[in-house]
Amino acid sequence: MLARLQPDIAETKTKKKLPIEELFGCAATPVWFEIGFGGGEHLIGLMKQNPHAYMIGAEPFINGMANFLHSLREEKLPENHIRVWMNDAILLAERLPDQSVERIYVLNPDPWPKKRHRKRRLINQENLTIFARILKPGGLLVMSTDVSDLADWMVTEATRHPAFTWATSKASDWRVMPADWIPTRYEAKGKAKGRQQIYLMFNRN
Ligand SMILES: C[S@@+](CC[C@H](N)C(=O)[O-])C[C@H]1O[C@@H](n2cnc3c(N)ncnc32)[C@H](O)[C@@H]1O
Repeated sequence: MLARLQPDIAETKTKKKLPIEELFGCAATPVWFEIGFGGGEHLIGLMKQNPHAYMIGAEPFINGMANFLHSLREEKLPENHIRVWMNDAILLAERLPDQSVERIYVLNPDPWPKKRHRKRRLINQENLTIFARILKPGGLLVMSTDVSDLADWMVTEATRHPAFTWATSKASDWRVMPADWIPTRYEAKGKAKGRQQIYLMFNRN
């Protein structure tokens, strides 16, 4: 199943773009990209809620990918609406064409709490520039975390990037779970321990 759903570009050194038509075998739209989907419950939920949308899910952790593919089969969700990538999401993002994606989800990215490790955080200026290139104008970057230092970091990085605008009227909105939100297992565990989940939506200008 993984071989069917994963583009065969891992060994390619070229930065040649991978057309969406080639990736899905049709003129897929809208395309939503979830980065670091963990066990995949949010991605499965998105597919069930939005059967019209085409999803790309990246997760390098083999158990997470196996769990996701198992759920996909159990739930009988259509394989032609999903492509997966069991590797660093940025390698795939670099191969996606300009303005080819409507939404990017980065939920509970690894916090890398030590100061000297912060450069490993997924949300940084370099990766935001890649996200800005592949997102359509008006597209959405959705992020979440229950680590307050990381929440501050993600807000700062995204607001100082010229391609993104925080889609909120007041900062306190970040504590309010959006109506159609699908909580992940990680999020549920954090809440059970009394941690506050932060929800961040940024528009591609
Ligand atoms: C803390 S977990 C959160 C998982 C899930 N998003 C959730 O909310 O339950 C972070 C996930 O990001 C994945 N990850 C880390 N770096 C990544 C990268 N460069 N590309 C894709 N996934 C990545 C990890 O393997 C891990 O599963």
